[in-house]
Amino acid sequence: MDNNQIIEVLRGVLHPGKGEQDVVSLGMIGSVETDGDGVTVTMVFPKHRDPLTEYLVGAVRAAIFREVEGVGAVNVKTVVKDPDEGKPKKKTVNDLTLEELATVRHIIGVASGKGGVGKSTVAVNLAVALARLGYKVGLADADVYGPSVPVMTATEGAVPDAIEKENGDAVILPIEKYGVKWMSIGYFAQKGQALIWRGPMACNALKQMILQVRWGDLDFLLIDMPPGTGDIHISLVNDIPMEGAVIVTTPQNVALADVEKGVDMFRNENVNRRIFGLVENMAWFTPAELPENKYYIFGKDGGVKMAESLGVPLLGQIPIVQSIRESGDEGEPAALSSRPDGLAFLELARRLAEQSEQ
Ligand SMILES: Nc1ncnc2c1ncn2[C@@H]1O[C@H](COP(=O)(O)OP(=O)(O)O)[C@@H](O)[C@H]1O
Ligand SMILES: [Mg+2]
Repeated sequence: MDNNQIIEVLRGVLHPGKGEQDVVSLGMIGSVETDGDGVTVTMVFPKHRDPLTEYLVGAVRAAIFREVEGVGAVNVKTVVKDPDEGKPKKKTVNDLTLEELATVRHIIGVASGKGGVGKSTVAVNLAVALARLGYKVGLADADVYGPSVPVMTATEGAVPDAIEKENGDAVILPIEKYGVKWMSIGYFAQKGQALIWRGPMACNALKQMILQVRWGDLDFLLIDMPPGTGDIHISLVNDIPMEGAVIVTTPQNVALADVEKGVDMFRNENVNRRIFGLVENMAWFTPAELPENKYYIFGKDGGVKMAESLGVPLLGQIPIVQSIRESGDEGEPAALSSRPDGLAFLELARRLAEQSEQ
């Protein structure tokens, strides 16, 4: 018997976890030694506690006994070797530190149970309104599937600069406009290209977009959360030191269950963050030509009741008016104006600032 003959026999031992591949092609045979009628095989396993270790050791021993003539003893040794040993480690998002957020006083998520309630509209206008009140403000648009900040602030073409830190890592500089520092995944996508990231990739891009940004000294960093209450949200709330959240809703009763889910995302015992309050968007309709009139098309005081039943403050009510949509489309947020809708956002900002000092 010789080593080559034994290796040929081992080519017949397949790894059941790896399709049709055999232990030799998989690089699992470290060495084969013969001494008289004894054979010693050293098997290499890439990780600890491979559940198939026992099985493969047995299969190798049996194959040699069965197929190589004149074998008296088979000794199979196992060693564990990290396949990436010696290679430089790539940095993962989990290694990103929170140092860029250390100069931010309040990190607040703007969330909703479902999409289309005007969450981004409220987030963008709230940011602008807080800046009008004199606060230093940033907003991270964390809606990887439908970033709206570039359009709502007319900064679509902007390309954020990156600088190198002393340790060689890169940090991104936010886009500044209307007195607010903006960051959006939309700045990194090509125009008109839909973002189809899913799961972990979207999650990592998101965290990077918050953690690797030179926010500088801020009173408020608002995070426009993606709609819904899935894994991505929980991971975001866990990894970013958010103090709490503002929940945006519309007055329809059907939205209550969604709002509850949104609230629970921050309030459940594992997360335990604060709910600063509810914002009732589209609370009433006011036509441009009848600015004194309020039409409660979704019912009156839905938001008040909702806030009461959830035990959270109602931070503000925003009417549904054409100028809010138009200013959003034009990239000139309504909160810049002194129209009634602009003042509603200023009042909302005042209430949030007040709550955050408590
Ligand atoms: N109070 C409002 N008055 C008029 N239009 C609004 C109002 N709030 C939101 N909209 C419009 O509704 C649409 C959806 O708003 P958006 O903020 O993108 O929602 P979300 O972020 O919750 O998906 C946008 O076209 C926006 O301009
Ligand atoms: Mg949105």
